[in-house]
Amino acid sequence: MSDHLIIFDTTLRDGEQSPGASMTREEKTRIARQLERLRVDVIEAGFPASSNGDFEAVQDIARAIHDSTVCGLARANENDVRRAGEALKPAKSMRIHTFIASSPIHMQMKLRMTPEQVLEQAVKAVGWARRYTDNVEFSPEDAGRSEPDFLCRLLEATIAAGATTVNIPDTVGYTMPWQFGALIKSLRERVPNSDKAVWSVHCHNDLGVAVANSLAAVMNGARQVECTVNGLGERAGNASLEEIVMAVRTRKDVFPCATRIDTTQIVAASKLVSGITGFPVQPNKAIVGANAFAHESGIHQDGVLKHRETYEIMRAEDVGWGANKLVLGKLSGRNAFKTRLTELGIDLPSDDAVNVAFARFKELADKKGEVFDEDLHALVSEEGIVPAHEYYRLAALKVTSETGTVPHARVMMNVGDTEVVAEIDGDGPVDAVFKAIERMAGSNASLLLYSVNAITGGTDAQGEVTVRLERDGRIVNGNGADTDIIVASAKAYINALNRLHAKVVRLNPQLAA
Ligand code: KIV
Ligand code: ZN
Repeated sequence: MSDHLIIFDTTLRDGEQSPGASMTREEKTRIARQLERLRVDVIEAGFPASSNGDFEAVQDIARAIHDSTVCGLARANENDVRRAGEALKPAKSMRIHTFIASSPIHMQMKLRMTPEQVLEQAVKAVGWARRYTDNVEFSPEDAGRSEPDFLCRLLEATIAAGATTVNIPDTVGYTMPWQFGALIKSLRERVPNSDKAVWSVHCHNDLGVAVANSLAAVMNGARQVECTVNGLGERAGNASLEEIVMAVRTRKDVFPCATRIDTTQIVAASKLVSGITGFPVQPNKAIVGANAFAHESGIHQDGVLKHRETYEIMRAEDVGWGANKLVLGKLSGRNAFKTRLTELGIDLPSDDAVNVAFARFKELADKKGEVFDEDLHALVSEEGIVPAHEYYRLAALKVTSETGTVPHARVMMNVGDTEVVAEIDGDGPVDAVFKAIERMAGSNASLLLYSVNAITGGTDAQGEVTVRLERDGRIVNGNGADTDIIVASAKAYINALNRLHAKVVRLNPQLAA
């Protein structure tokens, strides 16, 4: 029988450390529910000491999730560990993940600590965590560039102190797969109590080898992989969950282990994460890219029609492609609508919120006829349903655009309790709308990114727009969806302004001392 490979998802923690990928509490819970449906073993829900918002989000997820272990990150200090322990209290199954840097460069330049001090602090942190749970994970940050002898001492001491999982991060994505595999093998052989803990890996993708490194580690005894949906994460991201899971499943002839993931939920998870964060998935991305199963060349098409396995090593339906069911139509009632939201893990906070969402659903169904799950996710992601950041609201919009004339926009919106109007010309209709909104909001934010995607197929599909704004070093994404892409653009811009207005201050665990 093959071993169990534990899938530890960190989309909500490391994934959220991507600039602009911050999510609201409600969005995080929605993603956590989808991760539970995907049957991930451990959900790293956040870093509770980083902000009150993160603490509450981890608490919400701890309450909502029953079939996965919920984990919170903590630096190796008593306050962080206490915050993680308190946030996770409602969880049916919890884990505290504590870490401290172990490479010479991080110890000297960032922590200004000696190796002995780091070792002592790590052992203490594991001890503090054990007061809350016997499920404790320890990570020596930047292990990929740490001295192997020191790593062995540190890991032996933390396992002896009660760490039940030891995680080896390649924090800066520096290691090559054969080196990383050899590192895991040698640590497992050299650490005397290595059999008392599960060995885990956490790889970043700076040189494009995060998945290869993780798989090399699995071949050398790692039995937990830390990964994210769509490979989201700091800088170039983390190892991608879908690629790890499908590699192990498709090549069961070479991997001595298996996951318990429900692979048919992969595409839904990918779309949800990309819709909420506004990070689109490149079309040629393995497993979840729009072209991952599309055969363009005649020779390939001919081969696949004659015998599918000539060119296909996996089946599109096994990862959830083609599963977007028609769920609701114009005639669906409030109850059917609410039931579908519940099935999707969308829990609106009040009857008023359900009413607002239902009114929007009716409007959309009138325009579009057919409403899919992706449309429902987009619909509840819009501001106004969960009224947390609703300082700016779109009231009305009129745009004129005709060949040979200058595009012109008239936008009416609410800023706090006041209704304001602005009219302005622009280089194009979207430019005119953004200028009008900016004139009223006066945010002085810079527009870093504007992108439009169709949520489902067909020309009647909703356009989903992502707008990324930056002000004083803070980056936020805003999303908006509508069958009219100019309206979707206005909603996305206003959504981003609301997020800037919300002034969420969060520590990055790896930058904070
Ligand atoms: O990349 C890293 O080292 C991390 C640790 C906190 C595990 O994210
Ligand atoms: Zn990381």
